[in-house]
Amino acid sequence: MIFKKAKEITNKLTLDEKIGMIHGAELFQTAGVPRLGIPPLKMSDGPRGIRQEFLPDRWENIGNSDDYVTYLPSGSALAATWNRELAEKMGSVLGEEARGRGKDVILAPSVNIKRSPLCGRNFEYFSEDPYLTAEMAVPYIRGIQKWDVAACVKHFAANNQETERLWVDVEIDEEVLRNIYLPAFYEAIHRGGSYTIMGAYNQIYGEHCCQSDFLLNQILRKEWGYDGVVISDWGAVHDTVKAANSQLDIEMSVTNDFDDYFMANPLKKKVETGEVQEKVIDEKVTRIIALMLRLHMLDGKRKSGTYNTPEHRQVTLEVARESIVLLKNEKNLLPLHKDNLHKVLVIGENANRIHSCGGGSAEVKALYEITPLMGLKTHLGGNVQMDYVPGYCSGKKVQDANWQEASLENGGGITSSVIEKKEAVKELGRLRKEAVSQAKKNYDAVIYVGGLSFDQDSEGNDRIDMKLPHGQDKLISELLDVRQDMIIVLIGGSAVEMNHWIDKASSLVWMYYAGMEGGNALADVVLGRVNPSGKLPETFYKTHKDCSAHCLGEFPGGKKVGYKEGMYVGYRYADKYNIEPQFPFGYGLSYTNFMLDKIEINDTEHTFSCSITNTGNLAGATVVMLYKSREDSELEKELTRFEKIYLEPGERKRVSFTLGTDERADYEVRGLSEP
Ligand code: NOJ
Repeated sequence: MIFKKAKEITNKLTLDEKIGMIHGAELFQTAGVPRLGIPPLKMSDGPRGIRQEFLPDRWENIGNSDDYVTYLPSGSALAATWNRELAEKMGSVLGEEARGRGKDVILAPSVNIKRSPLCGRNFEYFSEDPYLTAEMAVPYIRGIQKWDVAACVKHFAANNQETERLWVDVEIDEEVLRNIYLPAFYEAIHRGGSYTIMGAYNQIYGEHCCQSDFLLNQILRKEWGYDGVVISDWGAVHDTVKAANSQLDIEMSVTNDFDDYFMANPLKKKVETGEVQEKVIDEKVTRIIALMLRLHMLDGKRKSGTYNTPEHRQVTLEVARESIVLLKNEKNLLPLHKDNLHKVLVIGENANRIHSCGGGSAEVKALYEITPLMGLKTHLGGNVQMDYVPGYCSGKKVQDANWQEASLENGGGITSSVIEKKEAVKELGRLRKEAVSQAKKNYDAVIYVGGLSFDQDSEGNDRIDMKLPHGQDKLISELLDVRQDMIIVLIGGSAVEMNHWIDKASSLVWMYYAGMEGGNALADVVLGRVNPSGKLPETFYKTHKDCSAHCLGEFPGGKKVGYKEGMYVGYRYADKYNIEPQFPFGYGLSYTNFMLDKIEINDTEHTFSCSITNTGNLAGATVVMLYKSREDSELEKELTRFEKIYLEPGERKRVSFTLGTDERADYEVRGLSEP
């Protein structure tokens, strides 16, 4: 029905009008056809909230006060909740805010697999595991699209690094591609129903993804039967004829020579000379109009949205709380009890730093961002003396305003390391000494908040190793020498090295970029108002050299990158080859204890069930994860089902999973006790 109507409308359009609809006419929108009431298609980044408004033809923030928005937790934070319901709620906030800001397509979610901990965009991505990624993406997309806004699942496909991202050619076994890197896209389309998909910058098998016959024609359209709209990443198209004849529908880019885009005037010329048939343009336009019909853009029946509501902020708080992962609590120092606190020292730049305003296209002009320092101060109130020293400093606090204009330079991205200048080293030494001498004073608690920032976790940039920047290893180590009970909180988009001090530390909390309410959520966990229930959605290696992309395959490679590790990505490798990670995939502690028993596996019915009991004194949640092994696979195990379970003290629940016929049930007990 929709396509019939879309085709009728397409038939009324001139070649110029059709071409106007299939390429950017502004940095974030196509041209409409006013004579027929067809509006332009308006797009916006991104996964952490609706990005600020830019001038139509320059990467310059308009600077109005009306584009501040709800800043949502990053993809990794959401995945650490292992909570599908929260994924739906978060998507719904994004969709409603996108509508509120008048957008048609929201360029999210980012579902690429975390192949190496060093990828600069890992913070946007959900996980190293395809199943967990898909389970987060599907409800998130449904949440967005409830609001008559299209999700744009990205970046299709195998865009797992930033270094040379515009050109790098991914050499990957097809079976690996299909089993590890494509499933989240498949599910996003089939179960999530994503109306649009974004082609990636990189190449696969020597073809750029946005004009790839293999990816777009063979897999996406023919095999998967996708009838949604394929949008290019910004500047990812390289050839008029190839792009036109591939199943790409819209070309977007970062430059303002809109009429010269490959699918603009150059395409018109190719149609006129007969090198490209007008029919292929009609097909693209028909899909775009079908999208507009799906979104009720043409019938006056479209939902309206809104942004910055208290309800939206509440969702960010709920996600942030559940995303925090308790990694170590050896002496049960956590939670801190407010009544015992009179003097508290907070150390570390991340306690006082905001993260919404960087990271590349996932930047957000946040209505506000509660830092950890603010969260702790507001929770502890005026009777507690709160002192703060930075301990280290990073320098840059805002993202370069025009980074995107230059984003097609240097192959689109580099690998960078933090090299401190002489002056900075001196300053770091001074800050360290100041922090250590302060920590020796008579504080009831010392809380360190460090980690990474968008200086490392950013589009166009991969890390060179997993080391904490700005002398933090030495700082943490010296601080632990004077305060063995220091609570360590690390913030980042992916794992960091901890070897230098981990054995000395007794309490460690991990937090991904957790949105505008992150500081409140952290205070809730540290002060025991919330029982932590986050679980790592990725392996925390001891060093990046333990990660299969580095020790078996290549990362970041050169002009080509070999995914020689094959299927052994993340825990699939660590488990098979007994690599002991710092913290494994799925790990995360609680302030209470859980017991798992009464396991029943029914091979005929293909069911697995077990009981889970909260044996402690506090209400809490945990995740029951089921891993499968397959007859035909050499992999030890792969995540196949999971369920997050909430239990009051003493409460017991039965959990049941039905498996596929080719799956053999197995079970892992992680972070839980068996009777
Ligand atoms: C490039 C990024 O790769 C993509 O994720 C983003 O949506 C576009 N730029 C638009 O900003």
